[in-house]
Amino acid sequence: MKAFFSRLINPLVWRVPGHPARVLFGFSLAEHGSMLDLSAATRLTSSPQRAAAYMRHMLDEARHARMFAARSAELRLQEGQPSLGYPVADTENLFQTLGELRFLAFVHVGEKRGRAQFETYRDWFEKQGDHKSGAMFAAIVRDELRHEQYTYDLLLELAGSEAQANKELRAVVLWETWRKWRRMGRFLAEKLYFAVMTFIYILWGPVMYLAGILNKGKP
Ligand SMILES: [Fe+2]
Ligand SMILES: [Fe+2]
Repeated sequence: MKAFFSRLINPLVWRVPGHPARVLFGFSLAEHGSMLDLSAATRLTSSPQRAAAYMRHMLDEARHARMFAARSAELRLQEGQPSLGYPVADTENLFQTLGELRFLAFVHVGEKRGRAQFETYRDWFEKQGDHKSGAMFAAIVRDELRHEQYTYDLLLELAGSEAQANKELRAVVLWETWRKWRRMGRFLAEKLYFAVMTFIYILWGPVMYLAGILNKGKP
């Protein structure tokens, strides 16, 4: 669904001047965030085999973060703008919050979604003749496919059955929806707070002015 939507809006997203470099930097930030989550997974899992798999994945995501940041900087340079720098993402401690089984379901869903989205970007850039960006997305898609596959294999192994693995995948989709809704609520509450405080501040000016006039008349 998201991939279909991406194909529809690609002409708008990538043609706005200055926007592609910012979008690529956003991807770089997301890859850095994944790298931090996988670094925690490497340290905290009880299985040395899974730690090795997470470590390999972590190194891939670190490389993707660098690739996106470097391409973003090149596009900025072509526009005479300074680079947006190296990404430094926040971590939500997802491995600790979700536990290993649900963390695997979460990563699998994210990898699948990201891979489908990046495929549309790979095709878009190739069609536009930007083979450098096209090749970058093609290389990243190959890695994301591997991530998608191994996270499903581990999820299946830990869940013990396909039915339980699918249950975890459904639960994680619901959890993500809830997380997005909460974030949107927080965003709207901040905006509302700003609007109300601005209104009070503007109203306060005439009140202070009137109070000053009334005080002048007093002995
Ligand atoms: Fe990645
Ligand atoms: Fe990945």
